[in-house]
Amino acid sequence: MRAVPLAGLLAGCGGVQSALDPAGFEAEQVARLFWAMLVASGVIWVLVLGLAHYASGRREKPWSQRDAGRLIVWGGAVVPTLLLAVLLFFGLRLMPELRAPGGPLRVHVEGEQFWWRVRYHPPGGAPVESANALVLPVGQRVEFSLSTRDVIHSFWVPALGGKMDMIPGRTNRLVLEPTRTGEFRGACAELCGASHALMAFTVRVVEPAEFEAWLAREAAPAAAGTGHAGEAAFLAHGCGACHSVRGTAARGAIGPDLTHLASRPTLGAGILENSAANRAAFIARVDEIKPAARMPAYGTLLDTEIAAIAAWLGMLR
Ligand code: CUA
Repeated sequence: MRAVPLAGLLAGCGGVQSALDPAGFEAEQVARLFWAMLVASGVIWVLVLGLAHYASGRREKPWSQRDAGRLIVWGGAVVPTLLLAVLLFFGLRLMPELRAPGGPLRVHVEGEQFWWRVRYHPPGGAPVESANALVLPVGQRVEFSLSTRDVIHSFWVPALGGKMDMIPGRTNRLVLEPTRTGEFRGACAELCGASHALMAFTVRVVEPAEFEAWLAREAAPAAAGTGHAGEAAFLAHGCGACHSVRGTAARGAIGPDLTHLASRPTLGAGILENSAANRAAFIARVDEIKPAARMPAYGTLLDTEIAAIAAWLGMLR
């Protein structure tokens, strides 16, 4: 029985969303601090148990006033103060490094109920709009500015660093520097409503050249040819009032930008695999899949229309 919680604990030590399996400079500092704290707490725990054992074994022999006073001064004040001071010093020493300036690439992320509005600001280039899927260059410091207009969210990619709250009325700053390539997962870390647990995103860390190529593709209009039945249905049912698909008549700014939806690994902010069946299900039953989302369910559309829209969205690379 005891193995079950232990297995659960160990499962948290690896994978795409673990602060103990760091893939970023900031996360490495946090992991170092965690292990130092864990070892120090272990030492304190053993010392306290040892003292308790020692004291209970001496019940027959009453303490002299001098011994008791010494134990209280050393065990109760001097040693705890020294240990806590060492831990405090260790933690404070990491802070200037965590606050070091960011690089030339800036990314603005805005928390929404319940997804992530993403805007890349490449140095010298025009801003590039996206949602729910970050791609970052390895070995470069990236400066994030974080905001929200509805409620408090919190931006966290445990494997890379953070977390940082998004608070209405202010813009917070966070710098992340991925140190190895790979796929990671981020999540909202502040209870923000009915679908808080369904507010995730993906992070793909790639080589700088691959990142530049991705950003150039992302900046371009959608690659899907016009005239598809799905595009016609998308526009006829007013989807373009909330969503933008650059290169088409869809210019909405309320919901996620869908210009390159097909190139994102997940759907609905990290909760579903991005497949045609899931796209269709999301359109028809978003109220069940993502409770309290602002998008209404379009279950009243014909199945053929939903399938056409789902197919067309799958062409938006
Ligand atoms: Cu957004 Cu929790």
